[in-house]
Amino acid sequence: MSLRVAIVGSGPAGIYTAEALMKQASGDVEVDVLERLPTPYGLVRYGVAPDHTSIKSIAGYLRGVLELPNVRFLGGVELGKDIDVADLLDCYDAVVYCTGAMVDRRMGIPGEDLPGSVAATDFVNWYCGHPDMPADRFVLDSSEVAVIGVGNVAVDVVRVLAKTAEELRATDVPEEVLTRLAESKVKAIHMIGRRGPEHAKFTLKELRELGELANADVYVRPEECVADVTAASRQVRGNVEVLQSWAARGPVGRPRRLDVRFWMRPVEILGDGRVEALKLERTRLTEGRVVGTGEFETIPVGMVLRSVGYRSVPLPGVPFSEATMTVPNEAGRIQGRDREFVAGWLKRGPTGVIGTNKSDAAETVRTLLADLAGREPVRQADLDTVLASRGVLPITYEHWLAIEAAEAALAKSLDRGERVKLVGLAAMLHASGR
Ligand SMILES: Cc1cc2nc3c(=O)[nH]c(=O)nc-3n(C[C@H](O)[C@H](O)[C@H](O)COP(=O)(O)OP(=O)(O)OC[C@H]3O[C@@H](n4cnc5c(N)ncnc54)[C@H](O)[C@@H]3O)c2cc1C
Ligand SMILES: NC(=O)c1ccc[n+]([C@@H]2O[C@H](COP(=O)([O-])OP(=O)(O)OC[C@H]3O[C@@H](n4cnc5c(N)ncnc54)[C@H](OP(=O)(O)O)[C@@H]3O)[C@@H](O)[C@H]2O)c1
Repeated sequence: MSLRVAIVGSGPAGIYTAEALMKQASGDVEVDVLERLPTPYGLVRYGVAPDHTSIKSIAGYLRGVLELPNVRFLGGVELGKDIDVADLLDCYDAVVYCTGAMVDRRMGIPGEDLPGSVAATDFVNWYCGHPDMPADRFVLDSSEVAVIGVGNVAVDVVRVLAKTAEELRATDVPEEVLTRLAESKVKAIHMIGRRGPEHAKFTLKELRELGELANADVYVRPEECVADVTAASRQVRGNVEVLQSWAARGPVGRPRRLDVRFWMRPVEILGDGRVEALKLERTRLTEGRVVGTGEFETIPVGMVLRSVGYRSVPLPGVPFSEATMTVPNEAGRIQGRDREFVAGWLKRGPTGVIGTNKSDAAETVRTLLADLAGREPVRQADLDTVLASRGVLPITYEHWLAIEAAEAALAKSLDRGERVKLVGLAAMLHASGR
């Protein structure tokens, strides 16, 4: 009898896990990839910026895995709602959790919950057309906006705010979102780093793109860009060189302005009923720790986008460490559990590019196959029967292809690019033909 494995989550980690199982197993393996949404690919679809089309094309590779003969995609099935851990252990010989890190980290400063203070996770979900986020959620009616954080997500958010709607027209951004972007009143974007340019988390390629924006001038203060990087990595030296070159050049009169700040930490979001300003404190490092200098500056912004990292949420019935915000594991095996494994951002935290999840998934699969080697399959139930008994009708891979076809047809009818995202679960389910 073949080994049957459930993978929960169809992002890069889930799909690379399916691929690694097919490649590494010596005998037959059947894999079900369970996903709460009707659509596969996780953050490749609902995170990677719409204008990064070459990165989005990784979906083509992931598609090839879902089309392997012994791999099934079952969308619309949520662990914790439609099924629980006991169901999975009844129906499969092993389970791999790959549910990522879907919520924002908090800054813990006063005013963080004022209207107009927004988690980047929500903003990204909005422009990516995630079904959890209504397309009318944001109105960009402020002329000045702050983006907190200097990682790659902050860079994505800044680019979407800085570009014109016309520049994003050929992307898959939902039509309703494109309309809101066309109506944007944003003139100035302040990107705030609480440490120096040598500590910024963005990568060189992504940083350089900000300097090539057709619609925005980039400002950097020379005094905030001083850094000794002689012993630093190539990546850090490159970032600092690019930033220093921007500090040396003047504006050319583009309609929007991007102000990249360093050594400034947010201490309070101010406003009467909604965000009106952001109070910053200049910082320095003391024994490797960021400390305030007591020198403050307030910038008048109507929106604060907090891009300070993602975090995983506990899955019901699955161990979780509140300290690391991950599932405690040894090389993918969940501590204290048999037949339960973890991969991707849920395993190691919310860092790393898409490709990082491939080697990570391969490690988990090595552990899984070693643990199960020589054992007889133990499953005693069938998930299709369990789901049917609860009235849960999964979205199959064919249903997903119908959604994709509807998105291509929508793009054609609007004279836009290859695909325009459908907005909302109802529209997707309708298009799926289920
Ligand atoms: C905004 C953003 C942009 C990024 N851009 C890039 C980029 O341009 N290039 C790059 O290389 N990397 C990029 N990354 C990093 C990359 O997306 C991650 O490394 C990768 O997606 C992590 O994979 P994952 O499978 O662990 O998580 P995810 O991709 O988040 O996949 C998790 C999946 O699990 C599903 N799920 C969650 N809970 C349940 C449940 N209870 N039951 C069933 N299913 C569930 C989710 O719906 C989702 O589909 C970006 C990350 C972010 C946040
Ligand atoms: N194109 C791409 O390849 C791409 C695109 C998007 C995302 N990704 C990847 O996805 C992962 C997640 O990216 P991310 O940008 O969400 O996270 P990240 O790289 O960890 O960056 C988070 C940023 O937030 C700052 N920060 C954290 N807490 C803060 C606070 N309380 N106040 C002020 N600033 C704070 C951090 O500063 P400190 O350093 O001081 O903590 C850092 O600058 C990364 O590995 C990234 O490379 C890749």
